[in-house]
Amino acid sequence: MCGGGQLGRSAQQARCRAQRTLGLDQCPGDIIVLRDLIPGHEISHFMLVAVDVIGHHRKMRDVCGGHRDSVPAGGVSECTHAASAHLGNVKPVTRVPVRDDLRALEGYHSPQVNVSVRLNTNESPFAPPTAWRDAFAAELARVDWQRYPDRGARALREGIAAQHGVSPAQVFAANGSNEVLQTLVLTFAGPGRAVATFEPTYQMHGQIARVAGSIVVEGERAPDFTLDMAEVQRVLSTALPAITFLCSPNNPTGLVEPEGKIRAVLEQAPGLLVVDEAYGQFAEWSALGLVDEETPLVVTRTFSKTWSMAGTRLGYLVGPEWLVAELDKVVLPYHLDTAKQIAGRLALQYVDEMESRVQFIIDERERLSTAMAALPIDVFPSGANFILFRPRKRSGHHVWQSLLDRDVLVRDCSGWPRLENCLRVTIGTAEENNVFLKALAEVTT
Ligand SMILES: Cc1ncc(COP(=O)(O)O)c(C=O)c1O
Repeated sequence: MCGGGQLGRSAQQARCRAQRTLGLDQCPGDIIVLRDLIPGHEISHFMLVAVDVIGHHRKMRDVCGGHRDSVPAGGVSECTHAASAHLGNVKPVTRVPVRDDLRALEGYHSPQVNVSVRLNTNESPFAPPTAWRDAFAAELARVDWQRYPDRGARALREGIAAQHGVSPAQVFAANGSNEVLQTLVLTFAGPGRAVATFEPTYQMHGQIARVAGSIVVEGERAPDFTLDMAEVQRVLSTALPAITFLCSPNNPTGLVEPEGKIRAVLEQAPGLLVVDEAYGQFAEWSALGLVDEETPLVVTRTFSKTWSMAGTRLGYLVGPEWLVAELDKVVLPYHLDTAKQIAGRLALQYVDEMESRVQFIIDERERLSTAMAALPIDVFPSGANFILFRPRKRSGHHVWQSLLDRDVLVRDCSGWPRLENCLRVTIGTAEENNVFLKALAEVTT
């Protein structure tokens, strides 16, 4: 039978037709089988259509690989035509082709699996304070929902500015720090301009830039994942990036960039330096102190981690006023809804609670790191709310699966470039951490 998976109905029907017509035994993953039905140079034509029929974009990348260059000038419609002949009475589903430069894009993947111990996305294991929930509910009851939100999110910006001792005009807020990063890229990079990252780092820096049409230049980190300053100099002087991304503490490695290195990058960067501090409160120092009107530097932060508000989607940056004014021109009008503005503004009244949650997580991180280091595991030092580690006796993926079998979900980075066999665990509650440690000992020894 033809497996439905998450395909739309018409794609699934076309897929079933293709299966029947071609007499295939199974449907999922079958385009690899189709490869054998057609002569060499037509593989890419066929694959594109198979992808259209099957809706299996990721497979296209896997199977087309080097063949994609042979797509003819007529593009997908010509491919469709060519492959229709092979498909006989199978009518391909008509799809509008995505931008050529996005065809190979994989998207962001982080499985949302139902498990009892979920330690894979660096969220806070604690709910926000009850007093915050009550105050939020009370304010929501008084909202004029028929009106657009405050476009400038003034009260929220003032609250964030007060928290960091800067002016509200230095604060830009958006739907998660991802949208802050996206607005930066749209404003200062965009099509044709270069954006530099130092890998491995937060995947979305490169992804956002690619989607915006920028040229992503990937520098390499040293084998211990620290910044290699000779490499930084090489990348910055050759690519001349409009934006250079750093992440401190770095996701997924957990390393904090020392102040001296951030200052050195700042001196060399020909454009804007973005320091992503999504995990900034867990670290011992912040680049926020380097922000001023004369320096092309912004520091981004989020409410998703330390503030226990990942469900709210709220992030912000602190930067020069002139830069924030440019971002305000680019971002969509009324992008921050009224509820979010209230949620963020009220959260800032609970700084003490936030700081005690952060301290607890730091203490747990140290306890976990020490316990993990006693196992046959390489543990990377972390200044964040997660730990990167590499089992020495078993493969990373095997350990990930074995943990999942014990109802514990961590992040499987083992197949990511430069992170062979690595896994990443988010610090949870003390109970969750104990369950994780016990399971880890079982599956790594
Ligand atoms: C380094 C880094 N930056 C930004 C983000 C995005 O955060 P937000 O939820 O604010 O979009 C994340 C989320 O995991 C992250 O790890």
